[in-house]
Amino acid sequence: MKFNITVIPGDGIGPEVTAQAKKALNAIADVFDHTFLYKEGLMGACAIDQTGNPLPEETIILCEKSDAVLFGAIGDPKYDNDPTAKVRPEQGLLRLRKELGLFCNVRPVKAYDRLIEKSPLKRERIEGTDITIYRELTGGIYFGDKSLSDDGKVAFDGCSYTVDEIERIAHLAFQAAQNRRKKLTLVDKANVLETSRLWRKTVTALASQYTDVTLDFLFVDNAAMQLILNPKQFDVILTENLFGDIISDEASVIGGSIGLLASASIGKENALFEPIHGSFPQAKGKNIANPLASILSAAMLLEHLGLNEEFLAIEKAVQKSLELGITTEDLNPNKPFSTSKVGDFIADYIQNQDDSNINFQNIHMGQSTII
Ligand code: IPM
Ligand code: MN
Repeated sequence: MKFNITVIPGDGIGPEVTAQAKKALNAIADVFDHTFLYKEGLMGACAIDQTGNPLPEETIILCEKSDAVLFGAIGDPKYDNDPTAKVRPEQGLLRLRKELGLFCNVRPVKAYDRLIEKSPLKRERIEGTDITIYRELTGGIYFGDKSLSDDGKVAFDGCSYTVDEIERIAHLAFQAAQNRRKKLTLVDKANVLETSRLWRKTVTALASQYTDVTLDFLFVDNAAMQLILNPKQFDVILTENLFGDIISDEASVIGGSIGLLASASIGKENALFEPIHGSFPQAKGKNIANPLASILSAAMLLEHLGLNEEFLAIEKAVQKSLELGITTEDLNPNKPFSTSKVGDFIADYIQNQDDSNINFQNIHMGQSTII
């Protein structure tokens, strides 16, 4: 089959890791006889540098016309350290989420067997953890009214949610739970926030349509603690935008590296796939960043296009790279492989699927001829 994919490499390590995800997609195209047509779009600090705009109109149009978007990372320290900057790279991503209607952000968190020792958390606590976070992505305080008083002494960020905004993602989270271990936890702050009370009321009302799913509730402060104390208690977590941003970074510690967490941002008509890690500017251009989150994001893209076998082929290759320690320095400090070597291994494994393959052995020894 033929698919149009918009690639937005973005800032920092984005271009390097996205290039590896493309290698994986090309290997899939080869093996499964698909055609992926890529077009590149600009977004983020690099877009500001080139056009003055963090999200040029052409990029939005490209994304709207494509079957899926693969995105790298956004952000640059020159903006992070300047609170007076009027235009910021992150505005590009936030606007793109809004323009494409990407209201549902799915973030899977797994404790991979091979990496359990990498996590600062104890094996017995995290072994077997398998959580999917459903983070609302186009509402809440991220998109509320904002203001700063003329004297610069009072700042305001408003937070609002409508029943419709809550229902559309809640349905998807309930359905995900039905296909998994049938437990849904709504994370909110309903003891303090009016918006959280609306979330509880709305989600509770929907529960009668999903009687096979057990629904429970946790305040976000307690959820933050429970994620570390006993992450295995969670199956699907549903939460609003800001809480989801925070607890998904926290949950990444369970997996051993934030460099492993992929995400899908889904709307009615569009879908975008990105690693949850940031632009990691310290590593930019050094060929040391972990590309697995980007590669796994490409896998989620395939799953979204209905290509399940293809999705599994990438997952299997990633498992293999973890098993063999063909990983970057965050996971393999003693004998690290470069970003591009990890990408080459994944592509090679997808194509050959054969542990005795010559390239495979060479890569394992860090001497592949194809690299
Ligand atoms: C994320 C990021 C973004 C967010 C930033 C870059 C705007 O942290 O995707 O989690 O806060 O949503
Ligand atoms: Mn984040």
